[in-house]
Amino acid sequence: MNSKIDVDTLITNASELLTCTVSNSKKPKTGKALSDLGIIKDGCIAIKDGRIVFVGLNSDVDFNARNTINAKNKVVMPGFVDCHTHAIFAGSREDESLKKQQGISYLDILKQGGGILSTVEETRKATKEELFQIAKKYLKRMIEYGTTTVEIKSGYGLNFEDEKKILEVASELEKETGIDIVKTYLGAHTVPKNITKEDYIKEVLASLENIKPYSEFCDVFCEKGVFSIEETRTILSKAKELGFKLKLHSEQNHLLHSAELAGELCAISADHLENIADTGIESLVKNNVIGVLLPGVPFYLMEEKYAPARELINKGVAIAIASDFNPGSCPSFNMQLMISLACLKMKLLPGEAINATTINAAFAINRANEVGSLEIGKKADIIILDIDNHNKLPYYFGINLVEKVIKTGKLIYER
Ligand code: NIG
Ligand code: FE
Repeated sequence: MNSKIDVDTLITNASELLTCTVSNSKKPKTGKALSDLGIIKDGCIAIKDGRIVFVGLNSDVDFNARNTINAKNKVVMPGFVDCHTHAIFAGSREDESLKKQQGISYLDILKQGGGILSTVEETRKATKEELFQIAKKYLKRMIEYGTTTVEIKSGYGLNFEDEKKILEVASELEKETGIDIVKTYLGAHTVPKNITKEDYIKEVLASLENIKPYSEFCDVFCEKGVFSIEETRTILSKAKELGFKLKLHSEQNHLLHSAELAGELCAISADHLENIADTGIESLVKNNVIGVLLPGVPFYLMEEKYAPARELINKGVAIAIASDFNPGSCPSFNMQLMISLACLKMKLLPGEAINATTINAAFAINRANEVGSLEIGKKADIIILDIDNHNKLPYYFGINLVEKVIKTGKLIYER
């Protein structure tokens, strides 16, 4: 009689199986633990009903599997969690690159009525179906690059109907692609044309309750010339009262002390942080706010200043890394490239950058109980890379190393 346990899929012989597990399931990785990938050499993983049922050594395996994938000489790891994107928009803004080369800054382009506002114009014009088709194409490409969970912000509608349209497209994309999508309302992305800031903030405040069924998080672009600390506090406090979890675009171009505000409001994350102060760092640590770093942004905007990642790690901030995919400040969703940039520009170790794009990123969108690490009971969101050790992930920069993508146990991409 065969007493072996039946499973759906076995991935065997992995040169390195990066489990990315945390010692305390309630807390993201910080400090020294951030570089610990929980590597199993010659590893194996078993999947049943979309979930992980075994993680361990190849030699311990004793299953009947319907499918077996031989991962000899490959790295097997959790799918990337891209915890900060603006992936639903119409149009593109390649014309801005030229302006930036001529020395016109990102915020100056916005002031002149371009930037975010030009994408708002295009996105408002697009029908829901058109937006869906555009974003579906982007998401399919994200999957090819190994992303299996993505956060998407609204913020290119800037009125109730168009913001709702974007968030509804996000829900439809989740059904269509099978990947997990976490939704964030970013009505306070900038002030639209033909309305005063004061009136627009009133509109955002009034819309919060009605938009709540469509989004889990609320975010504000807190920046000089966009929304001030006081305005951000007003919007996010009301959002918190209504049950939103909070995020902030924080300290990107100027130090406004919005990281301190993120601490005060117990936001889940404060994102960007290029100009964070010591008091901001202390506030993030004290209040368990995750610092989401977006190295593709200064890279694409031709800026020298990156977030002080080493200092944040040394002082105990839990960091995550995301793409910030959007048409103006980072038209890339390649999480492998973000890992390379984190290592090359912010001096992260490969292991730190990988944990920051998987388990810590899952914490930054409240999904660490389901995704981000290879652990029994979690969703089988797994990617297989054509490299034999994880140090080659940042090394081959800009190259897609993904060979297979498995989402909730299903092979959804194979090269
Ligand atoms: O995260 N900074 C504000 N929002 C986005 C950019 C959006 C855009 O330029 O369209 C960001 O960088
Ligand atoms: Fe952003």
